[in-house]
Amino acid sequence: MNLPSFLWLWKIAAWSMVLTILAYLLQCLSGSIVWYARTTRIRRPSWLRTFHYTSGIVMVLLVLLLLGIGLIGTIGHYGSLGQSSHLVAGILVVLLTLVSAWSATQINSRNMWARNLHLTVNILLCGGLIFVSFTGWQVVQKYLP
Ligand code: HEM
Ligand code: HEM
Repeated sequence: MNLPSFLWLWKIAAWSMVLTILAYLLQCLSGSIVWYARTTRIRRPSWLRTFHYTSGIVMVLLVLLLLGIGLIGTIGHYGSLGQSSHLVAGILVVLLTLVSAWSATQINSRNMWARNLHLTVNILLCGGLIFVSFTGWQVVQKYLP
């Protein structure tokens, strides 16, 4: 496949990544307020949880979009996967995001483990996002004119 003809795909990847990182930061912020309200027993506004949940779903969809772009782009170009450590980074981020979303659905007053899992996975996700952005930025250089 012609290299420059592929550039548009990686531009979508780059912009989706910007949105993913924005969504992650919003999650950190809204999640911290949820946590603060719970530990200090302040009443939190009812929209806060809905906001945290909705932007979480948006983040999951963005990460799945990025996975799709990465898989289709790589197979379309090379015919096989595993071209660099970006593959490991990508799979790691997808897994962490899915575990985070799943653990969120398990959070309630009896399941303290779900809260702890949700927090631990999301802290790890910060590193994962840095790893995937860095390796993605490296591999995209090959496609630049
Ligand atoms: C993957 C998408 C995500 C979904 C669907 C989601 C959903 C949820 C839900 C349902 C809760 C429980 C709220 C409650 O107690 O009523 C929660 C709590 C929380 N989330 Fe998320 N979340 C996501 C991602 C994140 C991320 C990326 C972060 C941080 C970077 C985060 C940080 C928190 C924090 C700090 C809490 C409060 C836990 C506590 O009360 O101790 N979440 N989340
Ligand atoms: C959550 C974020 C991301 C995920 C889950 C993801 C996932 C993947 C996966 C699974 C592959 C196949 C890798 C292989 O088999 O070697 C791939 C390839 C690729 N991704 Fe990503 N990616 C993400 C972010 C990015 C970003 C931010 C960029 C940069 C704009 C990017 C650019 C690329 C490129 C250029 C390839 C082709 C691989 C190559 O030429 O070696 N990705 N991605």
